[in-house]
Amino acid sequence: MAKLLLVSNRVPWTVACAGGKGVLKPSSGGLATALAGTHARGETLWVGWPGDLGGLDAEARQAILDELQAQRVIPVELSAEEVERYYEGFSNGVLWPLFHYLLDKVRLDTDQDWDAYASVNQRFAEAAAERAEPGDSVWIHDYQLMLVPRYLRELRPDLRIGFFLHIPFPAYEVFRILPWRELLLQGVLASDLVGFHTPGYQAHFVNASRRILGAESREDGLDYDGHHVALGDYAIGIDAEAFSTTAASPSVMARVQEIRQDLGGRTLILGVDRLDYTKGIPQRLLAVERYLELHPEMRDSVLFLQASVPSRERVEAYAQYRKQVDEVTGRINGLYGSPSRVPVHVLHRNIPFEELVALYRAADVMLVTPLRDGMNLVAKEFCATRGDDSGILILSEFAGASADLREAILVNPYDTGAMAEALDTALRMPPGQARARMRALRKRVITHDVHRWAEAFLRDLHAQGPSPHPMA
Ligand code: UDP
Ligand code: G6P
Repeated sequence: MAKLLLVSNRVPWTVACAGGKGVLKPSSGGLATALAGTHARGETLWVGWPGDLGGLDAEARQAILDELQAQRVIPVELSAEEVERYYEGFSNGVLWPLFHYLLDKVRLDTDQDWDAYASVNQRFAEAAAERAEPGDSVWIHDYQLMLVPRYLRELRPDLRIGFFLHIPFPAYEVFRILPWRELLLQGVLASDLVGFHTPGYQAHFVNASRRILGAESREDGLDYDGHHVALGDYAIGIDAEAFSTTAASPSVMARVQEIRQDLGGRTLILGVDRLDYTKGIPQRLLAVERYLELHPEMRDSVLFLQASVPSRERVEAYAQYRKQVDEVTGRINGLYGSPSRVPVHVLHRNIPFEELVALYRAADVMLVTPLRDGMNLVAKEFCATRGDDSGILILSEFAGASADLREAILVNPYDTGAMAEALDTALRMPPGQARARMRALRKRVITHDVHRWAEAFLRDLHAQGPSPHPMA
């Protein structure tokens, strides 16, 4: 039977070196957590970067390579310079902020980062081409690998190629800022099927392809350079079963009791994000501050717990961001804390899966207020853990998830006053109304899970080509 190859920069396990030995740790971020379920279910191979193996001696290195092989991962190793230029420089210094509309964070100062981006994309394509057998399908993921469909098509015209973008595709007026706009679009357009989280992102992609390349719009996609590429919107879900079963497990229920006891009667407002400037953590803190300012009677009765998972720490904008989060937290605690209690607590670390589920289950209100987010899985994970339909979700209207999760309290994360008001609404919501909303949210998250997402994309991919391609 034809195989499926997944190709992404990040794989679900990242190598960490400790005392000359290597260990595989779970990777953070939505792409790795969502696709891990698809990989666990099927006969897939996964081509990706496992992190830095450089600090390992020959024996430790071989042990890690064996472990990766057992997990069906084909490693693409990157040199320190490639990490700096392709991953930190171009992918996360240019594409990530620009696609999230945060133009002040975009660095357009060097062509060398682009060259590294192109050459690493070529290596990913070669790794996939080498492992794919005739008739296989290859599913390439995300902004780090936008040139891979084209390079792979050149190497292996016999393969069926799908591409999925996990982040927003920006409006044409923003995308056109990129000096490499033609090449990026041409890279993606060599696919047979391209998927987006929302119809809005897809519309921006169509508009950019038409105006920049003169691609022609067809009912189900685009024609460009003698090749038809199908397009579709597929809102990613989560492994809802894993979250709801874990939430109901005795060990997690016991941990939830412990967390509630530690709260000593306080209401728990929770945030969980990678420490990323797209997530709007300082703006969220300002809203909490405003709420406490307006409601002095609540200063002793709420705790805002923010789990902020370290991410891309060597990129300058991320280091500055951590300082900003810590400064605002310090100010709020200084203003409204007492010797025995602080209203805001920030955890700067990875949260193990069971602890994360216990936190979701223990929280009264979940604050998910990114400035811009392709989808946001944290919002969906929270809902999946609420087996008794309790809990209230406050969600940014700029997260892709807001299109699916309409029963959340939707907010504009740039509007501090409106966010403080949303908190007040959440904390006063009659329990019956809160349960009705959560019931609807949970139902949707459970039915539209990650398996359904992957099946829908792959069904449409298999309905395409493989067609002879003029570039081949
Ligand atoms: N997550 C994680 N480590 C943690 C806490 C959370 O890997 O310590 C996971 C979380 O469960 C979710 C993902 O990271 O699956 C975040 O995905 P989301 O789509 O919300 O945002 P992204 O980080 O992909 O931008
Ligand atoms: C987002 C991106 C993913 C990425 C993840 C974590 O979800 O869409 O492609 O894997 O963030 O970021 P990192 O840079 O650690 O892979």
